[in-house]
Amino acid sequence: MNKKLFLIPSLFLLTCCNESSLIKEGEYLFKSLHLGKNNVVGCISCHTTKSDVVTVGPSLSGLALRADKIIKNMSAQEYIRQSVINPDAYIVSGYSPAVMFSHYQEELSEAEIDALVVYLLQLK
Ligand code: HEC
Repeated sequence: MNKKLFLIPSLFLLTCCNESSLIKEGEYLFKSLHLGKNNVVGCISCHTTKSDVVTVGPSLSGLALRADKIIKNMSAQEYIRQSVINPDAYIVSGYSPAVMFSHYQEELSEAEIDALVVYLLQLK
């Protein structure tokens, strides 16, 4: 096998896609006050990960345990991704539509969205 062709994907996997580094990257993004190309409002301005602290949006504590039960036939991963890129597709009971910032898909790279989803998927 051509060595170069083998080396490139291996380096990619080693540097970018190891799960614990994705979780760290996601946590860093989640806790940043500003995000994206235009320094838009960050998640932490509206969400906590503590079960007893609710600010503007729902606490995301335990999200991994409930996310697959919210919409029929939607996995936890799909639900979390949809909540980030299209928050008004489903409104959490007790909250209002059009409050969550709704343009993260344009602001963030695919890799950044993946990292956020992987981080949120392990909040138990
Ligand atoms: C301006 C405030 C605000 C910001 C900023 C915000 N959210 Fe939200 N978020 C909300 C509100 C309000 C809701 C509940 C209404 C709804 O379902 O859209 C919500 C709902 C959610 C849900 C669904 C939670 C559940 O219990 O089902 C997830 C997941 C989520 N947000 C993740 C994020 C992430 C990740 C970011 C940053 C990339 C973010 N939010 C930024 C306000 C915000």
